[in-house]
Amino acid sequence: MPTPPNSCVFVPQCRSFPYLFTKIRDLKSSNESFAFYSSRIMTVLAEEALGLVPSAPFPVETPTQAMFAGTRLIEEESRLCLVSIIRAGDSLMEAARKLVPQAAVGKILIQRDESSREKLPVHYYSKLPPDIDTRFVILCDPMLGTGGSALCALDIIVQQGGVSPKRIVFVCVVASPEGLQALHARYPEVQVVAGAIDEGLNEEKYIMPGLGDFGDRFYNTTTSTWLKKEVEG
Ligand code: URA
Repeated sequence: MPTPPNSCVFVPQCRSFPYLFTKIRDLKSSNESFAFYSSRIMTVLAEEALGLVPSAPFPVETPTQAMFAGTRLIEEESRLCLVSIIRAGDSLMEAARKLVPQAAVGKILIQRDESSREKLPVHYYSKLPPDIDTRFVILCDPMLGTGGSALCALDIIVQQGGVSPKRIVFVCVVASPEGLQALHARYPEVQVVAGAIDEGLNEEKYIMPGLGDFGDRFYNTTTSTWLKKEVEG
């Protein structure tokens, strides 16, 4: 499936990404390596997302007494809320939180119903800051597959939280064209930062070539059944 036309998708051109992505896509990488290298990628993606938060010119004087045309976040517009889609999203949210420890944190628990053919998302729990409508939101989920979980989380943030889609950035490590298309169709104003855009989804709605189950690999809960399946391919 071709990549959808979406002016709001940013894929950072980081020179270390081919190396880092090889590490995390490799079936043979240990869980420890996966967590280490994916964290490096997620730090870059979190920096990129922060670059989309409203900022204004802020000139500073350097120690050589020259002027540098810097920028800074606009205080009243850039109070942040980092929202993770539990569980895999926690890893990405924590990478962002190291950069902005003062941010509020929201959590949404959505799981896909593995027994349904479409792997439909089911919402179990959410806890968002009461003033989320006054904040800029960075929504974190490493894998944008069908887009079901991301859309469910966006519905909660926009409809219940009252956040304008213009003030939301969705961050993921790998996106599928199908997921981007679904997200763009309902929320064209939401900006997306993706580490990579892959070819598409397989029958089980996993991203191809992808990297398997992100949460299981990051948190070392990979089942031998899944590994066997990956090896048999
Ligand atoms: N979630 C994952 O962890 N991997 C995929 O490929 C799709 C959704």
